[in-house]
This record gives sequence, structure tokens and C-alpha cells, in this order.
Amino acid sequence: MSKKFSVPRGAADILPAEMSLWQDIQDTARQIFRDYNYHEIQTPVFEETELFARSMGKTSDVVQKQMLNLQSQTKSDAADIHGSELSLRPEGTASVVRAYIENGLDRKEAISKFFYMGPMFRGERPQKGRLRQFHQIGAEIIGPEAVHPYLDAEIIAVNIALLHAFGVQDFRLKINTLGSIEDKENLSKTLRKLLSPKMSDLCPDCQQRFKHNVFRILDCKNKACAEIVHGLQINDSYLSDESRAHFATVKEALEGLKIKYDVCHDLVRGLDYYTHTVFEITGSSLGSQDAVSAGGRYNHLVSQLGGPEIPAIGFALGIERTILAMGESRELRVIPPDAFIIALDEKSFKKAFQILSILRDMDIASDMSYRVSSMKSQMRLADKVGARSVIIMGESELEKEFVSLKDMETGHQEEVTIKNNDYAVLVDKLRERQQ
Ligand code: HAM
Repeated sequence: MSKKFSVPRGAADILPAEMSLWQDIQDTARQIFRDYNYHEIQTPVFEETELFARSMGKTSDVVQKQMLNLQSQTKSDAADIHGSELSLRPEGTASVVRAYIENGLDRKEAISKFFYMGPMFRGERPQKGRLRQFHQIGAEIIGPEAVHPYLDAEIIAVNIALLHAFGVQDFRLKINTLGSIEDKENLSKTLRKLLSPKMSDLCPDCQQRFKHNVFRILDCKNKACAEIVHGLQINDSYLSDESRAHFATVKEALEGLKIKYDVCHDLVRGLDYYTHTVFEITGSSLGSQDAVSAGGRYNHLVSQLGGPEIPAIGFALGIERTILAMGESRELRVIPPDAFIIALDEKSFKKAFQILSILRDMDIASDMSYRVSSMKSQMRLADKVGARSVIIMGESELEKEFVSLKDMETGHQEEVTIKNNDYAVLVDKLRERQQ
């Protein structure tokens, strides 16, 4: 027997019944982004590995442990023409910033507002809510004038508007500020001071993190580390007056929008590029992987990637986790055709196939049974696909140039003329019933 293949670990098929939900999510997102005047951008699913290392940080878990690098058969193909290694993208921000700089968008707009959706790839250990191929919907505001703290509130507001529109009810918004680069440096010193007496109780990973990136200890899932972090008395003494004022205005704007938030001083996020506001939205039904979405400011990433000094802020939500958080409110269905044609003999079958093509050309979603069997069994099939109307073609219909049209909702059946191959009446009737 030949080998059977399975979907790769950590990836998933999205079958048609689920696909309609995904489409609803994506359509809804596009509508919300339209309301907020954000424009869609699409970047490749792979980029130079170095782009991610330089943006997310060489010591971030994603870059250290989760990058999926591309390999090729021949040495010359393995590296790109620039001689650089390529990786599947673990997130969208770095690519959007790369595209922003490459296309000189800072010279065109004072503030650019982008959104994107698509697959991201991280070589993580799969579990509920954690995949190797997952999908994000994200947004980024980038521009010379993208400094106003009300933009921080705007990006959080659009994130929350999306969750509301998807029917996610039960979530919590956590916010914090890391301050400027100097403040961040102060925070890192404070954390080292608080943690150094507890070094030996930290997990081996965190002992490394202590040296290279102490912020990451705050994200550690190890129980002992989490307890230590919980006991730290972190306050906002590391912040400059300016950073404190920025954060106060963000909170004021959120209150103005009636968005509830919790300030969590231990929220630092696992990626290097953040400064000032960071946030995370968690769903209560999600278990250990409870972040539905997350984001923050990254005022120096554009310059770190070779562009001018330009501020920015963004977020991304995970579609798979959003679907988990939607719980019972999610609706799975295969979108039914408008019409289903039943042919009762071989001659009618040929005519039915012609009618099918005409209806499809007229944007009436239709299908037919490709097996000339009894009326009863074809009706059963029509019922199964959920068609609103059934068109029946038999000997007498063919001879007298009409079709029998049955409304599956009301049970009403009528004869509709198709004399001289004129399908206008039939099309009109089917159109009236389109949802
Ligand atoms: P992130 O926190 O790494 O941030 O990911 C954002 C969201 O993507 C998470 O909250 C989660 O819903 C989803 N996600 C991440 N990893 C996985 C996974 N392995 N399986 C399933 N879902 C996952 C970023 O990616 C930043 N680029 C967000 C951002 C945009 N910051 C500024 N702009």
C-alpha cells in the first residue's frame, strides 16, 4: 500500500464548512478597516532572515528558536541573489516596515495606515492555540507624524472593534508603557536589580535571558519564574516625565472611547522593537495560549531597518485564537447554491447542463446532480446541499419548453417557461430568492 500523507504537524487544513467563517472574518475585517481608513498591503511570505533578526531581536524566542529557514537543493539557490538567507515570515510588522522604506512612503504621506492578513510561520511546539502555520490580521500606522498618543488609542480601538464585530465577548485589554529607549534601559536595570538575588531560582533559559534580554523573563511560562515575576514590585519609576505624559494621554483617549483597560507593569512583550505603549488582549476561554492579539509602539524600527527616524504603532490578532475565543457564537456552514437542477432522463440531462451554464453566467450559484437517478434520490441531494430552489427537467418539460421550479423553503412548485431558450423569467424568479 502506498504511503498516506498527513497535514504537517502544527499546520491545519481549513475545510469548506469552516472556510465560510474565515471569509466572514476577513470580509468583516476589511469593512472595519475601511471605516477606519486603513489600506490593505500584501508582502511576501518569506524575507531575508536578517530582517527578522534585526527587528524582533536576535535574542527573542522567535528568532532564536522558531525561525523556519528556507533551504534549496543547490548551494547557489539556497541563498538569495544577495547571498542572504531567507526565512518564512514569523510576523508581519518587519515586512510592512521593509516595504514602507523600500517604496519611500514617508515622502508621500505624513501618516500611512496599513492592514494585512495572511499566514505566518513559527517553528513552535504545537498545542491548542499554538500552531506552526497560523494566520494574523494586523495593522500598522507609520509616518513622520505618527507620534500622537491618540493614535495609540486608535490602534487599540480598531483592534477592539474587530473583536466586537467577530462576536468575541469575553476579553481583557492589558496595557503598559516601556517608555523611550532610555526609559527601557532604566527598566532593564531595575529588573536586573530586582532579579539578581533570585537568579539561582530562575529556569536555565531565564538565567540566559538575564544576561541578554531581561524583559523576556517576564514572559516565561515556567511556574517558578512566573511566581518570582509575580512577586516583583515593578512600578513606573523608570519613566521620564515625557513618557509618563504620553501614557497618561493614551489612557485618557481610551477612557474617552469607553474602552476598559488594566495597566499591567509586568507586560513587556517578547519582541525587541517596542517602545512606549504595549498591549495585549486575552480571551478568558483560551487556556495557556490566551493572547488573542497584541501590539504596541515601535518608534525606532524604521530607522533600525535603514529608513529615517519615523514613529509607528501596530497590532496583530491571531485568526485561529480569535475563532477559539468566539466559542459558540461561531457559525459553520457551507454556503449553499441558489439553485439545483434535477434531470430525469438522459435527454433532459443535456438540456439541464446547458441551463446550468446559463445560470452560472448570470451569477446564480447553481449545481446539478451528475447522475440521472430517481426524483426522490436527486431531491434528497438537493436538500443536502441546501439549495433554495430546485429546477426539474423531464420529458414533458423538454417537450413543452418549460421547467418545474420548486421553492424548497415554501414547498411551492410552478411551471416556468423557457420557450425559445428565453430564460429571463426563470432568472428573475431565482434572483428574487437570492439571499
Ligand atoms: P505576537 O504577539 O507575536 O505579535 O503575535 C500576535 C498574535 O498572533 C498573538 O496574540 C496570537 O493571537 C497570534 N499568534 C502568535 N503566534 C502564534 C502561534 N504560534 N499560533 C497561533 N497564533 C499565534 C506580533 O506578531 C507583532 N507583529 C504584533 C505587532 C504588530 N506589533 C506591532 N505591530
